[in-house]
Amino acid sequence: MQYTSVENNSASASKKNTQMAQVSGISATDKLAILGGTPVRTEPYPQWPVVDRRDVEAVTTVIQSGRWGGAPYPGPQTLAFAKQFTAMQGGDFAVPMVNGTVTMEVALRAVNIGWGDEVIVPAYTFQATAGAPMAAGAIPVIVDIDPNTYCINPVAIEAAITAKTRAIIPVHLGAQMADMDAIMAIAKHHNLIVIEDCAHAHGAQWNGQGAGTIGHFGSFSFQSSKILTTGEGGVLLCRTQELADRAASIINCGRPPVLEEQTSMQGGNNLSQLLYELAKLGNQEQVFTLGTNYRMTEIQAALGNVALERFPEQVAQREAMVNYLEKRLGEVPGVRLLKHDPRHSKRSFYRYIFAIEPKVFGANHDQVCLALYTEGIPCWAGYPAMHRYDLFQPQLSRLPVPSAFPQYFDFKAMSFPEAERASEGEAIWLDESVFRAGQQGIDDVITAIAKIQSNTAALAVANTVKKLAVKSMQFKPVKALMDFYISQSNK
Ligand SMILES: Cc1ncc(COP(=O)(O)O)c(C=O)c1O
Repeated sequence: MQYTSVENNSASASKKNTQMAQVSGISATDKLAILGGTPVRTEPYPQWPVVDRRDVEAVTTVIQSGRWGGAPYPGPQTLAFAKQFTAMQGGDFAVPMVNGTVTMEVALRAVNIGWGDEVIVPAYTFQATAGAPMAAGAIPVIVDIDPNTYCINPVAIEAAITAKTRAIIPVHLGAQMADMDAIMAIAKHHNLIVIEDCAHAHGAQWNGQGAGTIGHFGSFSFQSSKILTTGEGGVLLCRTQELADRAASIINCGRPPVLEEQTSMQGGNNLSQLLYELAKLGNQEQVFTLGTNYRMTEIQAALGNVALERFPEQVAQREAMVNYLEKRLGEVPGVRLLKHDPRHSKRSFYRYIFAIEPKVFGANHDQVCLALYTEGIPCWAGYPAMHRYDLFQPQLSRLPVPSAFPQYFDFKAMSFPEAERASEGEAIWLDESVFRAGQQGIDDVITAIAKIQSNTAALAVANTVKKLAVKSMQFKPVKALMDFYISQSNK
């Protein structure tokens, strides 16, 4: 394993701590906000999502039109959204859906991947990446991540391939991209389908090619926290018209995709509605495949069309601020920046993830994160490693796949050292809003981290307090106990 800039020598770390503290105008006596001191930042970071009158007008127009839902599919707003999304992200065939989980399930079903097939997923991601294969009847096979990017490790993929392997779902995590060159080479060699989970990668590019257009499918989420949001929503980018047709049919109750597409293309609202009704009256609603209703609504699509207008400027703004942050963050002792692979030619930031060295900080990432949060910096300690999730365990979930194939879900016997290191010790995820608050927003992040570093001893006490406080919630007086520990930390 290679780290880029881990500081292990505690003597030199504490010297650097002092330097850092001086640079930031923070002294070791400044009390941490978590211990009742003044937070570095009291002004809130900008809210998400950004809203203006365009959103209100777009939704009002849809509401007044009476055409709210997704049928006949795709409606005019949804069709426009699909076109504008591909114009921004690349790729030719986009199928809008209800969210960025079913997109992956539908991709698998569109290529007949199902019961008992193995799908390789990374050990560090949101549960949906493994949940979607299970919804299609397939078995998620978890593999470890690359510590330099926290994305799936191609060497681990190769090692996990069996005769039953049918697909790989790499996740472009936070603001990183998985090594798509290596993954596509493996997929070609073993004849596997690649579904890029791009829930965090709107606007990102690899070798000049949009995320989600390199694999056979690209899955995007527009859930509320995502940097392109429609409240809830998703798009599946498909490499061919045939795949897009199958996906469009699966999400539209199995209806033939061509009829639906033609009706919407020909005349928008009234004509398509009329043709749809006529088809129904004539009992011509043939079933193309077994499907369900995963259609995006017109209201969601209208919000997406407005969000796309703002999107390029927001991406550029975050990128400028990340560049500013990276110049200074890497100098903080005990902080390791993830690597920026030059093939990742355009970065886009959903969450900015960096690693701390717990030994140097004297605290684990969740403790540092809590202290950082209390200093006024929106952040998160990230996902648990996939094998720590309870919900896939056969005896708990009673889902068909874990129940039928329990040998794949013996999580206690599994070990993914890099995912564990990230999720249980190192990773800190900064919110995207941090990068929309100008240089001051970034300066505050650096100051807060330096302050925490200068107070590692106090942080340890704060953590003891927190643990005791949590344990003592049932008992009174918790406040007195906390006051006692805080007074000890000030001695
Ligand atoms: C990596 C990843 N994949 C998939 C999803 C699922 O997206 P949705 O919530 O739209 O179903 C998310 C959502 O948070 C995600 O973070």
